[in-house]
Amino acid sequence: MTRETLTEKAPSGLAHETIARSTTAVGSVAVVGLGYVGLPLAILAGERGFWVRGFDVDTRKIESLRARRAPFLSKEETAQFKKSRMHIGDNDALLVDADIYLICVPTPVNENHEPDLGPLIEASKRIGPYVRKGALVIIESTVDPGACERVALPIIERDSGLTAEKDFLFAHCPERINPGDSVWDVRTIPRVVGGSGEKSLNAAVAFYQSILDGPIKPMGSIREAEAVKMVENAFRDVNIAFVNELAMSFAKGGLDIVNVIEGASTKPFAFMPHFPGCGVGGHCIPVDPYYLIRYGHENGFEHRFLAMAREINNGMPHYTVDLLEQELEERGAELNGATVALLGLAYKRDVPDLRESPALTIRSALEMRGAIIRTFDPFVPGESTHTSLESVFDGADAAIIATDHSLFRTLAPEQFQRYGISVVIDGRNCLDKLAFAESPVTYRGIGH
Ligand SMILES: NC(=O)c1ccc[n+]([C@@H]2O[C@H](COP(=O)([O-])OP(=O)(O)OC[C@H]3O[C@@H](n4cnc5c(N)ncnc54)[C@H](O)[C@@H]3O)[C@@H](O)[C@H]2O)c1
Repeated sequence: MTRETLTEKAPSGLAHETIARSTTAVGSVAVVGLGYVGLPLAILAGERGFWVRGFDVDTRKIESLRARRAPFLSKEETAQFKKSRMHIGDNDALLVDADIYLICVPTPVNENHEPDLGPLIEASKRIGPYVRKGALVIIESTVDPGACERVALPIIERDSGLTAEKDFLFAHCPERINPGDSVWDVRTIPRVVGGSGEKSLNAAVAFYQSILDGPIKPMGSIREAEAVKMVENAFRDVNIAFVNELAMSFAKGGLDIVNVIEGASTKPFAFMPHFPGCGVGGHCIPVDPYYLIRYGHENGFEHRFLAMAREINNGMPHYTVDLLEQELEERGAELNGATVALLGLAYKRDVPDLRESPALTIRSALEMRGAIIRTFDPFVPGESTHTSLESVFDGADAAIIATDHSLFRTLAPEQFQRYGISVVIDGRNCLDKLAFAESPVTYRGIGH
């Protein structure tokens, strides 16, 4: 399809007038991939005066976004989205002649934990034919150092017939958004930017300065910007693995790791608290280290430390189920055949995100060991077998808290006792442990 035919043709689901260029906009932005990262950014760019087109390949999602429904947005973002005049679809017409392309597609790993750059390759092929001279292409997806220039750039250059830095501008600005965070959002979170040359870097920094309130740090290269994001998430993963390992060790020796971390946190320098739990989830922390591991591997280096952290954190859901099995055995009961209420399916507090959630691994592990599982997550009702605490507790023998949603954090021993639940495994160490001391309900946290 040529640009000429595209500009003459209205994209499906859009009226002809909707593709007419806005005369008041400060420039046009095409956001490719409208998820946790792309959609808030698209909304913000629209708010700051850009004419925004949102492109995605998920037709069900497009339908819902066109109706301005996106459960993963914050309240403020939802209000802005409802006002937004952004065009949304899967038609290539939305990609023609944009001033700025923002690629925000997923960068997952497959079942063998191998990085999958398929969506990034696909998105690069998609925009390539429409990138014109002077356009700025920015990749926000998280990738290993070198991937933007090794994988995406050659495709865009080939399909556009243009050369980066000379004809069009190419940059990387890894998103750091933390869904559910009320302080650091897409507007305020500091950014790092790398460009394929000085012109690209300056153009990308200028773009972000025009839409963001947070500071922007120019990096020496795209590879450095890519590495920043990798390092941040690997840092989280190894620190969490460290405290998870301590939790398992200290539990054997009868020490409470939470108390110890709180003690260590009184040191005013050189200690940063991380807390143990039943596993690490989400699209970033359990995924990105595999990209760094591969990066090392391709350069002839084995990241043993990162691989070990992944192994420890991946083992935590099984450790959690082991705890339950042990506690039931202490009481002369068996996990096989027991009815277990699993509280929380999302990977973190008060969000509806199931990606890489340890709760899902706990659910499978319980199933494998013959437990009868019932689940309740108020943020993911479609995935839950029950819709209230009362109904999920009624008839259960034991409970596991896999997500510390606000609704669960205030649970008291009596609420479990009332339903005959004898063992509670707190995978997030979020309940008042001392309150259980006088109760017949057994409480076990993760090293707590
Ligand atoms: N979710 C987070 O908290 C977070 C934070 C920082 C960075 N990131 C990174 O940002 C990137 C995007 O993550 P996300 O959480 O927004 O993912 P997401 O799954 O929420 O959204 C990605 C969107 O891209 C769409 N998509 C997939 N292939 C496409 C293609 N070829 N063309 C157009 N659209 C396509 C999907 O349908 C989906 O709607 C990833 O690299 C991720 O690691 C995510």
